[in-house]
Amino acid sequence: MIELKTASQIEKMRVAGRLTRGALELAGSLIAPGVTTAEIDKAVYQFITQNGGQPSFLGYAGYPASVCLSVNDEVIHGIPGKRVLKEGDIVSVDVGAVVDGWHGDNAATFPVGKVSDEAQKLMDVTKQCLDTAISLVKPGVRLGDIGFAIQSLAESHGYGVVREFIGHGIGSEMHQGPDVPNYGKPGRGIRLEKGMTIAIEPMINLKGHEVRILSDGWTVVTRSGSVSAHFENTIAVTDDGAEILTKL
Ligand code: MF3
Ligand code: CO
Repeated sequence: MIELKTASQIEKMRVAGRLTRGALELAGSLIAPGVTTAEIDKAVYQFITQNGGQPSFLGYAGYPASVCLSVNDEVIHGIPGKRVLKEGDIVSVDVGAVVDGWHGDNAATFPVGKVSDEAQKLMDVTKQCLDTAISLVKPGVRLGDIGFAIQSLAESHGYGVVREFIGHGIGSEMHQGPDVPNYGKPGRGIRLEKGMTIAIEPMINLKGHEVRILSDGWTVVTRSGSVSAHFENTIAVTDDGAEILTKL
């Protein structure tokens, strides 16, 4: 079901969104060669809980951490642990927080030191996919148009758009309607309306769109073994465009 938010509910989502962005930026600032993914998870947990929120991923469907940290060929849902980051890795950080019953969700891919030109360009284009999608948002626009724009841009660079995982409505729950795919056909899908709040989150692989899940039951990796990038914002549909809620 699609929940249309009132102005006061959107204000609560701004509070959650700001905290969620702060958590993402904190995680990004800690990324460096020699750091373990568990260290980053711990710092994010402390930041969110000390600032009046709860990490919305922790315990969600049994997920064991506050943040997803997905390295190189890991697309999403990488579980923090003993892994040590090294120069040249790229790390997708995904974090959600709930404050007073309202959710924020955001993600970004960060370089560890100097990375290959190929990896850097994938990150830049994936961020551009998200920004392009947000620039199209306004009442009356259809979700097929948004998905088509993301897919066209990614595929124009020869990249693969992940199909099995998509963006989503968000609000009093982390995941709610509508589905927000990163692919689609113009003129299809539901029309956006003022008061809808959605998480747009392109997951783009350097080679091939296919993915598989590791035996831990969570970590999604590219079938090709190529690197992957992920950027996400929570946005509200306004009278004439979009407001990014996951911002400081
Ligand atoms: N942030 C993911 C999303 O955007 C959800 C993470 S799944 C969890 O849908 F189990 F880790 F919470
Ligand atoms: Co999300």
